[in-house]
Amino acid sequence: MNAIDLFCGAGGLSKGFMDAGFSIIVGVDNDQDALNTFALNHNGAIALNEDLSNQETFDKIKQIAGERSIDVIIAGPPCQGFSLTGPRNFDDARNKLYLAVLEMVKQYKPKGFIIENVPGMATLYEGQIKNEILRRFREMGYNIECRVLKACDYGVPQMRKRLVFMGVRQDIGQPHFPEPTFGPGTEKPYITCREAISDLPTRINGLGLDVDKYCGPALTEYQKSMRGNCTILHNHVATDHKDFVKATIALVPEGGNYKDLPAGVGESRNFHMAWTRLDGNAPARTVDTGHRNLFHYELNRIPTVRESARIQSFPDGFVFTGTRTKQDRQVGNAVPPLLGYALGKELLAIIGEE
Ligand SMILES: C[S@@+](CC[C@H](N)C(=O)[O-])C[C@H]1O[C@@H](n2cnc3c(N)ncnc32)[C@H](O)[C@@H]1O
Repeated sequence: MNAIDLFCGAGGLSKGFMDAGFSIIVGVDNDQDALNTFALNHNGAIALNEDLSNQETFDKIKQIAGERSIDVIIAGPPCQGFSLTGPRNFDDARNKLYLAVLEMVKQYKPKGFIIENVPGMATLYEGQIKNEILRRFREMGYNIECRVLKACDYGVPQMRKRLVFMGVRQDIGQPHFPEPTFGPGTEKPYITCREAISDLPTRINGLGLDVDKYCGPALTEYQKSMRGNCTILHNHVATDHKDFVKATIALVPEGGNYKDLPAGVGESRNFHMAWTRLDGNAPARTVDTGHRNLFHYELNRIPTVRESARIQSFPDGFVFTGTRTKQDRQVGNAVPPLLGYALGKELLAIIGEE
């Protein structure tokens, strides 16, 4: 089954789809750093640097796809700037990135598609944007459902929530979402932060190198599966914070935040996520794009890129390129590959019988 990934970023969603058995033909994004990472980790998929608000991009995608059928489209459009300026005025220029996904589905009539977004998108304009998306795809001949999914329910050591639309062509079947395989009501407990990263070198004696060795064996099943056949550790460089940052975070207990600090300490940051330390015995809070507010459960520093990648369920063989800032953004923007895998498997089961 061939798939196209729109707004592919580094390719967390398409990594999951690849592992579920899809062949990714092309990933499209306008961030070259993210595309470099995508190209390095996607088995020869073309990484196309184009603006998806531009009609000419569709022609370029068509040239790359050639005669191949496109069975599935996956997409993670950014949702900044959604607007409804009048009743049903979904065609407002500010929504054009979503319209790009509609246009591609219209052109290719794939068997199915997945669109991922932040949960808040479901309630924007009292749900009118979401409802308009559902209506338009139904009109185009798709059965479509949307649901907020929790990454930890699918084996990701993170509480991240994402709104997911699944569409299936009406002549093929009905969409349905994968059942949780971890957490309450299942046989497996959620994977914790400690279970995810405790085997990685602590870097307490230095910042480490970008390419390095493991310091011991994998300690949990999750760590084993993340290592796979990897013998080299990438993207595991620690941050050397200023002394006051280290001293402040040292005062925060595991799972705590700025509210646990003594009066007069760390007051320069006092919003709800300030000085948050991960809880090693629970799935992580949502990995962000590098805001530097979420600290290691035990060490007095933010997680390395590799630690964040593990928490996002990127295997160690998935290497991130670009500056540290760009790498953090790629990891934080991504759909966790294990969530992508669960979605890919489910969609394949629905459309594969055709
Ligand atoms: C949420 S991220 C997608 C993450 C990706 N699905 C993953 O799992 O790794 C959104 C992406 O949209 C890209 N983007 C934003 N505006 C764009 C545009 N006009 N054309 C193409 N890509 C765009 C950004 O560079 C970013 O990589």
